[in-house]
Amino acid sequence: MTMRNFNDAQEYLDYGLRNLWHPVLASWEVNDSPVGITRLGDNIVVWRDEDGKVHALEDRCPHRGARLSLGWNLGNRVACWYHGVEVRFDGVVEDVPAVASCPMTGADCVKSYHVQEVQGAIFIWFGIDDSAPDELIFPEQLASDDWSSFLCMADWKVNYQYAVDNVMDPMHGTYLHSASHSMYQGDRQADMSLRMTKTGFVFEKEGQTGVNFDWVEYGQTGAAWLRLSIPYQEKFGPGGSFWIVGYATPIDKDNTRVFFFRCRNVQGWERDTWRFLYRNYLEGLHWDVLEQDRIVLELLAPDARDHEFLYQHDVGITRLRRMFKRAAENQFGLYQAYQKSKENVDVVGATIHPAE
Ligand code: FES
Ligand SMILES: [Fe+2]
Repeated sequence: MTMRNFNDAQEYLDYGLRNLWHPVLASWEVNDSPVGITRLGDNIVVWRDEDGKVHALEDRCPHRGARLSLGWNLGNRVACWYHGVEVRFDGVVEDVPAVASCPMTGADCVKSYHVQEVQGAIFIWFGIDDSAPDELIFPEQLASDDWSSFLCMADWKVNYQYAVDNVMDPMHGTYLHSASHSMYQGDRQADMSLRMTKTGFVFEKEGQTGVNFDWVEYGQTGAAWLRLSIPYQEKFGPGGSFWIVGYATPIDKDNTRVFFFRCRNVQGWERDTWRFLYRNYLEGLHWDVLEQDRIVLELLAPDARDHEFLYQHDVGITRLRRMFKRAAENQFGLYQAYQKSKENVDVVGATIHPAE
């Protein structure tokens, strides 16, 4: 099994923290054919078996390294397009049809991933080693039936850390999104403060609530999420404030897929009203707002984070960066140790291959 090597903790961090669930695709993106994706720098093939269950393997044929995602979906396994090798969902080679008896058959050659499909999204556990994944716990807006949500995604040409910074920065709403139907109100100046929670922290404007993008929360409950709410006037339908639960999944070190679940507390006919209104009117407005974020982020000065002059509004950003850095230093050590132990196993495993 081939694994990426990182030179240092910063490079490790640039590809994304592990020992977390990350959303990787929307459910509707995986149908009959295998899908090839890159997340956290890993090339992964994702497919759905005949029961609808989603599987994920390293997207690399153990024979000669062809992309398994170019091949066929055979239910509980995928077949490589190049010479037909069939790899099961657990990474074991089930068949090498081109050879009568091949020592690769029955060998565990390909890295497999834990997968969960929840809330219309496919989550993959990016573990550092082979230990069991943590439980994936959602914030109330996704966990409770009282809420209704839409999953909206975008791919941004920017490292995920910039996407996270952007959400950890409530003050930009008042300026960048001032033309938005929901974000033009409130003071254009604020003192900000930080409050720890059981799962992370809240960063908020002092003395202003229920007006604009007044606060943001970072939480870690099996996955790393961001949460915020935008107050809505009644004319934008039932359900009170509009909530966003967001995840920024690294594609590689220069690209990110953002997942924003847009939620409102609505039941019964009000839910139908809100869903109709959202699809026909509000979604377009929200895409406009997201596009403003994308433009600013993709056009930031090169390596912007290396030459910043931060001030009081950026305390949430600096706190989260510190947490990420510490986690990366810790994980980088664990990752290196695990890679080393794997290399030894691979040398032993190589004896199953005829040398010549
Ligand atoms: S490279 Fe996949 S079967 Fe040969
Ligand atoms: Fe924004």
